[in-house]
Amino acid sequence: MKPTPSKKLASLPPYLFVQLAKLKAQAEAAGQSVIDLGQGSPDLPSPANVVEALKAAVDQPWTHRYPQSGGLPALRTAIADWYRHRFKVTLDPDTQVLPLVGSKEGLAHLFMALLEPHQTVLVPSPCYPVHYNGVVLAGGKPYLMPLSEEMGFLPDLRKIPPAVAKNAKIMVLNYPNNPTGAVLESNLLLEDALNFSQKHGCLIAYDNAYSELTFDSYRAPSILQIPGAVDRAVEFHSFSKTYSMAGWRIGFVVGNAEAIAHLAKFKGFLDYGIPNFIQQAAVEALHGPQDYVSDLCRTYQHRRDAMVKALGEVGWEAPKSRATMYLWAPLPKKARRMKSLKFAERLILEHGVVISPGVGFGPHGEGYMRISLIAPEEQLAEAAGRIGAFLDRLK
Ligand SMILES: Cc1ncc(COP(=O)(O)O)c(C=O)c1O
Repeated sequence: MKPTPSKKLASLPPYLFVQLAKLKAQAEAAGQSVIDLGQGSPDLPSPANVVEALKAAVDQPWTHRYPQSGGLPALRTAIADWYRHRFKVTLDPDTQVLPLVGSKEGLAHLFMALLEPHQTVLVPSPCYPVHYNGVVLAGGKPYLMPLSEEMGFLPDLRKIPPAVAKNAKIMVLNYPNNPTGAVLESNLLLEDALNFSQKHGCLIAYDNAYSELTFDSYRAPSILQIPGAVDRAVEFHSFSKTYSMAGWRIGFVVGNAEAIAHLAKFKGFLDYGIPNFIQQAAVEALHGPQDYVSDLCRTYQHRRDAMVKALGEVGWEAPKSRATMYLWAPLPKKARRMKSLKFAERLILEHGVVISPGVGFGPHGEGYMRISLIAPEEQLAEAAGRIGAFLDRLK
């Protein structure tokens, strides 16, 4: 018997970053020294105080035992403390806070915990891939809300057909946005989404993974700051970007207690939670000094400015994002007629620079490329030079 994938799995192409990694390996095998600006995997070390806390925690044998899937009470309290301090929102650490083995896994698990087969989820396009793939793998039906540059990469909720709105179980929103780097200039979209949720009875899953990675004195809001939001929304956060802890696999969700209880029950069957020593270190990340985060924002902002300038010098206009670790740029004039995947493939194989094709984030991402600012400025300059050489070769 030949094992066959489920129809759900077979319906999805291989994960974007796995595809890019294969192309990268191919370029390296051919002797290229590759600069990888593909995945949003931070290159900077995690905070020293957090690494020290991890070492101290690993020395305590109790941390080697199975964790509880609901997370350590000390971590839930630290999350609630951080939230109150950062957003002036008070949360009950026992019912409105849940640590996650990464927010990617948490989002996927939320879809699996809440969706009936073929139930609709309103998903932005382009989006962080799990917003779409997670729904498909949970047996749900994504309905794409296009994000366009003219609309500031915000969805137009009035364009959702009433029949779709009526059946929607979850709406996914993500600002600061991956991949577009867009931010909310006001609370209007959040208020509209909450009104929509009240009218149609869907849950808002608000992905705030980049809430702390903001530039030019922009501060990102939490949806839970809007009065009544805790009745209709959950919000996802990640340690991956804020504290450069992507490989540690830890995030959290806060907000609506019923949704969190269902997710916690689901996780109880499926995962053992986050290793205790990592949870202990995460408490230090939240309770310890936060200068790491402001330094990080300064570093990414410098990189953003340097890369936008360097790309401009080789003829590629890229807008300056006000948050996230990404530039989201329309394909350069000389390559306007190329598909983003072709552009990415040729750039990797011929010039050893990995950047992500916009189409990998959904059909409305076609025509754009995403550049992750995950390398020191000298390497970004080198990458821009190689991109310039590539553009010179195009007619
Ligand atoms: C919008 C968004 N949400 C969630 C994640 C995943 O974060 P985590 O590492 O906590 O799973 C990412 C990672 O790139 C992201 O861009």
